[in-house]
Amino acid sequence: MGNVFTNVVEIAKSICRLKLAPGDWAVDCTMGNGNDTAFLCSLVGEKGKVYAFDIQEDAVLNTCKKLRALNFLERTEIIRDGHQNIDNYLKEKVKLAIFNLGYLPGGNHEITTEKDTTLEAVRKCLGILRPNGIILLVIYPGHANGKAEKEALKSFTSQLNQKTYNVAHICFTNQVNNPPELICIEKVCSE
Ligand SMILES: C[S@@+](CC[C@H](N)C(=O)[O-])C[C@H]1O[C@@H](n2cnc3c(N)ncnc32)[C@H](O)[C@@H]1O
Repeated sequence: MGNVFTNVVEIAKSICRLKLAPGDWAVDCTMGNGNDTAFLCSLVGEKGKVYAFDIQEDAVLNTCKKLRALNFLERTEIIRDGHQNIDNYLKEKVKLAIFNLGYLPGGNHEITTEKDTTLEAVRKCLGILRPNGIILLVIYPGHANGKAEKEALKSFTSQLNQKTYNVAHICFTNQVNNPPELICIEKVCSE
């Protein structure tokens, strides 16, 4: 096996592999170019379901193209809306929610996730998480909005009750240029 601890995106993917099984339901809260949505689709299988949110038309178009080529469209619900409105769409509990924050790679860097709406979405995701389920937050503190999101998410998640949630914050402390960081919130399973 190669290195596991190379970057937080790979760590987040390893956690997805551990958590998701065929038939599970998951949410990609920032679909972007659809890479994470497609990855989640491969893990939940044809009986599972992946909801994917983004506010940008380009993200929806790129993701649909990718999913169609992989034959994954039937197991997805593509939603062009902000993740802060997730409660308007998802009434069922999910096993995993992932946020890959920031702006669309190759797109308009002015359109980026914002701390207030991100926090609202994370709060709502807590309410739709199955026991043993997990929320993964990939944060990019190298730009101003990302730094503000990091501080807001750190503050919010570090105050969650440890009897209900396991919270971990993973960052590469010996890397230069503000590398991405990962916050994981796992809902404690009482069984
Ligand atoms: C870093 S990209 C996501 C990358 C993506 N997961 C992938 O695999 O390609 C962040 C995305 O978040 C989207 N975004 C920004 N604000 C949002 C919001 N309130 N709700 C949902 N998506 C949002 C942006 O449009 C952008 O496409």
